[in-house]
Amino acid sequence: MWYMGGKARLAKHIAEIIGPGIPLLVEPFVGGFNIVPAVRPQRAICADVHVGLIGMYRAIQAGWIPPQEYSEAKYHRLQATKAWATPLHTFVSFACSFGGKEWGGFARYKKGCSCPEQCRMPEHKMLWINRTEEFLCRDYSNLAIPSGATVYCDPPYQGVTAYKTGAFDPVRFVAWCNQQADRGCRVLVSEFINLCPDRWRIVWQKTRKIQLTEQQPNTVPTKTELLLEVQR
Ligand SMILES: C[S@@+](CC[C@H](N)C(=O)[O-])C[C@H]1O[C@@H](n2cnc3c(N)ncnc32)[C@H](O)[C@@H]1O
Repeated sequence: MWYMGGKARLAKHIAEIIGPGIPLLVEPFVGGFNIVPAVRPQRAICADVHVGLIGMYRAIQAGWIPPQEYSEAKYHRLQATKAWATPLHTFVSFACSFGGKEWGGFARYKKGCSCPEQCRMPEHKMLWINRTEEFLCRDYSNLAIPSGATVYCDPPYQGVTAYKTGAFDPVRFVAWCNQQADRGCRVLVSEFINLCPDRWRIVWQKTRKIQLTEQQPNTVPTKTELLLEVQR
C-alpha cells in the first residue's frame, strides 16, 4: 500500500538492524504498516494519530477486506462523498494516490497492467495486521510502552508539513525517546538527523538516487536514509 514517507523499500534493511522475531515491537508512527511484517515480532503494538488509518487497520482485524483494484472514476467519486470515517475512504485516499499522499491525486499505472502491489493491501500485510495485538489512535507520548520493548519510530520528517496530522515538535520527541531508553526500551528512529542529539548514534545508512524531475534535468539528487539508535 502506497503511503507517503513509507518505508516499504527500506523495511528489509531496517528489520535486519531491529532483529527478526524480537519479543515485542512497538511502532508509535505506524503509517503504512511496513516494519512489523518485515521484523515478524512475537508481539506488536502499533499506533498513529491518524484516526482513519487506525480505524482501517481495526476494520481489517474485524474482517473487512480492502479492494484489489480501484478505478480513477471511483476514486474521484469516493473523494467527493467525504465519507471520511470509513475504512474504504482511508485505504483509497493513501493506497490509490500518487506517492501515497492522502488524496494527492490518482496514481495512474500503465494501461492493461493490473493494479500494482503498491496500490493493494498485500496478503502478508493482511496476515500481520491480524496478528498485531493492538492498533491505538493516539499521540506517541500517550502510549504506555512496556519496559524492555523495542520501539521503532518513523516520525514525520522535520520541516515537512504535508501530513494532515499537524506540526511536529522535534524537541519534545527527542526528550520522549530519551525517556523511553532510560526506562529500558531499545529505541530506534528513522531519519531524524538534523537534530541528531549526542546520545544518539547512526546504526545504518544508505544513500540512494532520487527520481529526476523536469525541473532538475542535469542533476542526480541523492537522499541518505538513516537509522539512529538512542544509547542507553
Ligand atoms: C513517516 S510516516 C510513517 C511511515 C511508516 N513508517 C511507513 O512505513 O509507512 C509518519 C506517521 O506519523 C504519524 N504521526 C504524526 N504525528 C504523530 C504523533 N504526534 N503521534 C503519533 N503519530 C503521529 C502520521 O500520521 C504518519 O502516519
